[in-house]
Amino acid sequence: MSSEIPPSSAPVPAFVPPAPNILGFPQNLVQLVRNNLGIIPRQAYEQPLVVTDSFPKMAFVTGPDLVEHVLKRSADRFPKGKLQNETLEPLFGNAMISSEGADWKWQRSITAPLFRHDEILQYIPAMRDAATRQLETWKAQDLAANRPVNKDMFRIAFDVISRTMLVGGADDVIKAIEQGHAAYFHHVNWWIAYKMLGLPGWLPRPGGAVMRTQEKRIRDAVSKLVRGRLASAETEQDLLGRLVRGIDPETGEAMSEERLVNNIIAFLVAGYDTTALALAWALYLLALYPDWQQQIRNEVQAVAGDRPIGREHLSQLNVTDQVLNEALRLYPTAPIIVRDILEDVELAGTKVPKGTIGVIPIYAIHRHRSFWDNPNVFDPLRFAPEAETKPGRYQFLPFGAGPRICIGAAFTMIEAKVVLATLLREVSFELEHGHEAHPVGQMFLTPREPIPMRVRFLHR
Ligand code: HEM
Repeated sequence: MSSEIPPSSAPVPAFVPPAPNILGFPQNLVQLVRNNLGIIPRQAYEQPLVVTDSFPKMAFVTGPDLVEHVLKRSADRFPKGKLQNETLEPLFGNAMISSEGADWKWQRSITAPLFRHDEILQYIPAMRDAATRQLETWKAQDLAANRPVNKDMFRIAFDVISRTMLVGGADDVIKAIEQGHAAYFHHVNWWIAYKMLGLPGWLPRPGGAVMRTQEKRIRDAVSKLVRGRLASAETEQDLLGRLVRGIDPETGEAMSEERLVNNIIAFLVAGYDTTALALAWALYLLALYPDWQQQIRNEVQAVAGDRPIGREHLSQLNVTDQVLNEALRLYPTAPIIVRDILEDVELAGTKVPKGTIGVIPIYAIHRHRSFWDNPNVFDPLRFAPEAETKPGRYQFLPFGAGPRICIGAAFTMIEAKVVLATLLREVSFELEHGHEAHPVGQMFLTPREPIPMRVRFLHR
């Protein structure tokens, strides 16, 4: 196997930005439909701002000061806006994720306390058990090579959701999301392309019927679950139960049934693929660099010995943390976010007309040649406390930044740490001969093909 391990200085697979001359209309939208990384011009990996002239006009914002300006300092002037909200609206309705202004604010104040780091710690046993169940499944199976381990990570992520967000009675929801999400996201870039062209929602589009069917299936299943909870006197401690009882701290207002449904759908959809894919990309990198698997194993042994991973261990799992951060840098599972530019603005001395689509290409920021040494090389030590230069706040932003920062960031990081530590203590992951996992941006960053691996138990 050692002959297949790339040297630590070798670049990991990256998306090769298209030549500038194919970024005009309509080729830019063809790129978008295939792989949304294809709309990011090559210069965006080198310069702080790139404004394209083609239709639709886009401003790629990558310089840390500009990113801070757009996402944080002047966030009110750059709303998530039309493109993002209208794209998400059929699935999420008026949930927090697709709302603006006061409507967003009160929903965020109800939900934010549920997602605080300290609150999420109570879910560690559910996360650990999900990883343990996966180990048992592997043990009972023939662990022949070519196992698509990325798919197993979806199973773990769903196991966690079903035992933390929606405990009990959620089988329909689980099936609807599990079976529907891939078909849904496969077509989502068409929907975004239609929105960019300003085409009306009723116009037929590829995959439109599939998306409508999945939306309805997910909505029906979540509605049934929420109605059941509202009618029940039980006070479950899962996230749904706590959300049902949540009230706006300022006004005492609770969420209507429709809001609850919309927000639960948003949490499920925004939290499931992203976390499963983050784990899958981390395992891919760990399989490429088995030394790092061993380092995590040594750390887990030193910190927890043979005891189950618990809240007391989390802050000491530093290597695990560094690997996860580096995986999220190279393969940020939400690779692009967008903002509306509502009025003519000047960014870094460049005039950007209103109506331009503001694009924060997280993927390109994380591989930007001006901010990172050897940007395409896997090097978790960038995130070590002793690193000479620490990544800046607006240079590493897998969860976004500013007021709309991901509400589930602590949830994901705790889950990913607990799962990786629990798995790596028992098994090793080996990549099938020279497999290269190429990133494709649909809504989330997925590997182009399943990642084939061999899972080996260490103590058999
Ligand atoms: C690796 C895992 C994840 C990644 C990479 C990720 C990424 C992001 C990013 C980049 C944003 C900002 C979007 C923007 O500003 O336009 C965001 C927002 C959001 N995320 Fe996540 N996310 C992850 C996990 C989760 C989880 C586990 C949940 C829920 C349980 C979640 C729920 C949300 C919600 C509700 C928002 C909208 C917040 C708002 O608008 O105020 N995410 N996420």
